[in-house]
Amino acid sequence: MINKERILFLRKELSIHNHNYYVLDKPLISDYEFDSLLEELNSLEINHPKYFDHNSPTQRVGGGLVSSFETINHKYPMLSLGNTYSEEDLLDFDKRIKKLINNDFEYVSELKYDGVSISLIYEDGKLIQAITRGDGTKGDNVINNVRTIKSIPLELFGNYPDKFEIRGEIFLPMNGFNKLNNERKKNNLEPFSNPRNTASGSLKLLDSSEVSKRPLDCYLYHLLGNNLPSDNHYTNLQHAKKWGFKIPNEIQVFKDIDDVNLFIKKWEIERDNLGYEIDGIVIKINNLSTQNKLGYTAKSPRWAISYKFKAVQAKTKLISIDYQVGRTGAITPVANLEPTLLAGTIVKRASLHNADQILKLGIRINDYVFIEKGGEIIPKITSVSLKDRDLLSTPIEFIRNCPECNNPLQRFDEDAKHYCINQLNCLPQLKGKFEHFISKKALNIDGLGPETIDLLFKNNKIKILSDLYLLKYEYLLPLKKDGKKWSLNIINSIEKSKQISFEKVLFGLGIRYVGETVSLILCRNFNNINNLISATYEDLIDVDEIGDRIAVSIINFFKVTSNIQLVRDLYNFGLQFTYVNQVKSNLLKNMNIVISGKFIDYSRDELKSLVEEHNGKNISSISKKTTFVLSGENVGPSKLKKAISLDIDIININQFLDIINS
Ligand code: IVH
Repeated sequence: MINKERILFLRKELSIHNHNYYVLDKPLISDYEFDSLLEELNSLEINHPKYFDHNSPTQRVGGGLVSSFETINHKYPMLSLGNTYSEEDLLDFDKRIKKLINNDFEYVSELKYDGVSISLIYEDGKLIQAITRGDGTKGDNVINNVRTIKSIPLELFGNYPDKFEIRGEIFLPMNGFNKLNNERKKNNLEPFSNPRNTASGSLKLLDSSEVSKRPLDCYLYHLLGNNLPSDNHYTNLQHAKKWGFKIPNEIQVFKDIDDVNLFIKKWEIERDNLGYEIDGIVIKINNLSTQNKLGYTAKSPRWAISYKFKAVQAKTKLISIDYQVGRTGAITPVANLEPTLLAGTIVKRASLHNADQILKLGIRINDYVFIEKGGEIIPKITSVSLKDRDLLSTPIEFIRNCPECNNPLQRFDEDAKHYCINQLNCLPQLKGKFEHFISKKALNIDGLGPETIDLLFKNNKIKILSDLYLLKYEYLLPLKKDGKKWSLNIINSIEKSKQISFEKVLFGLGIRYVGETVSLILCRNFNNINNLISATYEDLIDVDEIGDRIAVSIINFFKVTSNIQLVRDLYNFGLQFTYVNQVKSNLLKNMNIVISGKFIDYSRDELKSLVEEHNGKNISSISKKTTFVLSGENVGPSKLKKAISLDIDIININQFLDIINS
């Protein structure tokens, strides 16, 4: 009893502090004090699992992987808003409303947050569902991911209705976005392109503990239900604020459309100081009965409209084009521009993506071009100012040879990029390969970074990946002043990488299209590097998740003698080339299991790893050796016939789960 009371007390206390910190931005205790209380609650919950609660503050760190999200019908459709782009459009909106409504009315003006919309359902003060917009009538329940967003209350305070829905926008504030990208750069991961896409991508992640690492935030802007506290939108939001929701302060009620216009003008200028992105202003009728009178069109409410800010544009001169060579040899043209001010930052460069893009823009050197900042960090060139064109200029010819090694470039079917295929001697490709190999998700050699790789190249200490394992403390020491600790750290982290699991080593080799997930799938199916090297195209595409593009890439990689030599060297240095699965039990020992058909709650891959965790063996085709077939929906009739003819047991998912849970 004492424990239960303490648990409940801590939960309440922590949720108040959470609200103070993330919603009110006024913490009353230190981070250390907060963490100690959280730690105490966590250990009480671990020791007393019967008091588990999804809405406990301890659950905000996420955990547990889901294979898919549940689809849920929206009680009220999630519509979009009509757009306006000018003062005149807005006056038309005002006229339309006045024609339909005879009595006085008020406008509420809000910022239009640029993120991803979410519908939160609360019952008895507890968050029970969090549904994405989806197609407007049904969306995904992403509640596990939403629970990790600290400014969204899991349990409410005060006097709230029994049942209601509240909608808002999940977004990534600029400082969180920049921090996330700095970390990604440090770990040699591709930076995210813009806060909005990162927020929407994060909500779709299947692993909520990954979502908890993204500093997402949420502003709420629409309360729905039968028993709302007021007949005014503005007042309802102020009530919701008292229940614990993050309601932005930048909302204002106006009687006159001219004041709405002033509000728009003000935020068009001040938007850069907000710390998060907005793409316009939303104007709503305040009174709910008036809203109802106005009603909806098929797509949007008649009682609200959005005013979209124009994309910020600037005109500047294209000085030259650089061609960058990536790790895979892909060439990216980058425009060098006359430095110009755009949305508060000086812009000097813009990406041109590929040859097709240059052709489409019809751009020439010395042209004046319009640049725009969309959501992306790097601005884009949207068009050319033809009236400013130098008449003697000529169209740009895309380079034919690699700017680094002079090798002729190639283009492959269906790929818009040009490639330099001189993987072995083209410096940026070589360096890129090292940067990928040492990254966290590959061999995690944290003593090394891009600058050290540069230094080692300059001093001719490395050229191919396996050279890393020839490095010695004595070779490194002279490369840096006071370099004892530095050298030791490098040598130690290289040594440690010999224990890194096969799937990470395989990923680290940088085979095109073999990302983390594909690498794991390959390891599970082929077990060791020899099997993978000798796998035929048919063997490869026989694996469910491996298609033509990946299979061809793997075959091509191992066709190259130097790649085989690299694997051989790494193997001899002691790196891991055999897949080791963590065996939890021997319940499926000596069993050969065929998984066939579709499963609702599990992906094929999850089931395969369950088989391996219990020491069973996954095999792809039914034969006399098969112990049983785990069958889902839509198993091909020929497979079933074969299993029956060989008298092999066919079991369903529940029977399978019974076996491994026995
Ligand atoms: S009200 C019936 N208010 O804009 C529509 N939406 O284009 C009710 N948005 O899907 C939406 N800030 O994701 C509303 N202050 C705000 C908003 C806002 C951003 C988004 C929202 C909506 C989209 C419509």
